[in-house]
Amino acid sequence: MLILGLESSCDETAAALVTDDRRVLAHRLAGQEAAHAPYGGVVPEIAARAHVEAMEPLIAAALSDAGIALADVDAIAATAGPGLIGGVMVGLVTGKALAHAVGKPLIGVNHLEGHALSPRLSDPDLDFPYLLLLVSGGHCQLLLVEGVGRYHRLATTIDDAAGEAFDKTAKVLGLGFPGGPAVERAAALGNPRAVPLPRPLKGSPEPHFSFAGLKSAVSRAVADHSPEDLAASFQAAVVECLIDRTARALAAAPQARTLVVAGGVAANTAVRTALAGLAAEHGRRFVAPPLWLCTDNAAMIAWAGVERFAAGLTDPLDMPARPRWPLDPSAPPVRGAGVKA
Ligand SMILES: Nc1ncnc2c1ncn2[C@@H]1O[C@H](COP(=O)(O)OP(=O)(O)OP(=O)(O)O)[C@@H](O)[C@H]1O
Ligand SMILES: [Mg+2]
Repeated sequence: MLILGLESSCDETAAALVTDDRRVLAHRLAGQEAAHAPYGGVVPEIAARAHVEAMEPLIAAALSDAGIALADVDAIAATAGPGLIGGVMVGLVTGKALAHAVGKPLIGVNHLEGHALSPRLSDPDLDFPYLLLLVSGGHCQLLLVEGVGRYHRLATTIDDAAGEAFDKTAKVLGLGFPGGPAVERAAALGNPRAVPLPRPLKGSPEPHFSFAGLKSAVSRAVADHSPEDLAASFQAAVVECLIDRTARALAAAPQARTLVVAGGVAANTAVRTALAGLAAEHGRRFVAPPLWLCTDNAAMIAWAGVERFAAGLTDPLDMPARPRWPLDPSAPPVRGAGVKA
């Protein structure tokens, strides 16, 4: 089985070809960092236009890399949400048009399901159920992954996502955009104990995350400390919060033999190292995808397409794009400002 995957939900345009035996035949990605850098964040209109320009040549390049004709794919998987609606529309409408043109099925993929299943692309031994820490630019959630399409949300953020906190901290510290890698580089040169910062919700009986107070504390301390010490102290605080909340979820989910991390923040070495230690302490296996598979890419969308197609799940050509699309629709709403999903 061979699936073409398309991704365009935020600021990366991507196309990939992936088989059901986990071969990534091609994966192409066009970032938009330079276009958004002057604004210190992603501008939705600029993103949508850039996706329009990049998508078609990327698909052609991916097909050429793999030496495959579009008619040879078994189905076309495109991110259908959640994300910036203008960008999602570009990839989904392109996927629909291609599916219609070659008479192959369309699979509308939840971008978060792409992240959630991506570790199964890189690790053939990863079986359900597993506990997933999904830490990205827009989300910070703990999910019990029971199977394809079966996600039980145990915790989410009541304000900012962890990646969002990295990005905002980078902005405050003048480290540029995108923020996560810049904070990690600066942190390597600083003292993680230099600045006393809060650990929001650490030890709390409720399961959720919070990062807004941490970000504000960094803003207040910025006049008195070096960017390197602030970056190191901020990263240490984020890691401690992630570990504390994940430990709580591990205790609540003894059926999950594996702890898995996915999403852009999973590219952070301090986060990965701490989670590996936590898993070992709790006697669980730890799986983290390679770095290129953590941040947005189309191979994870193609792989989610593989898993959904194998389960007989395809979508009609009039399927809508969904700017909001929780992985676990039955999860109760949480209190807090700026709650996303
Ligand atoms: N090395 C790193 N350390 C910390 N954070 C990082 C690192 N690399 C990337 N990030 C963060 O990961 C986020 C991007 O991840 P990803 O591409 O998965 O998110 P997104 O697609 O924007 O959001 P979502 O998947 O929730 O829609 C950004 O917030 C970025 O700062
Ligand atoms: Mg993402």
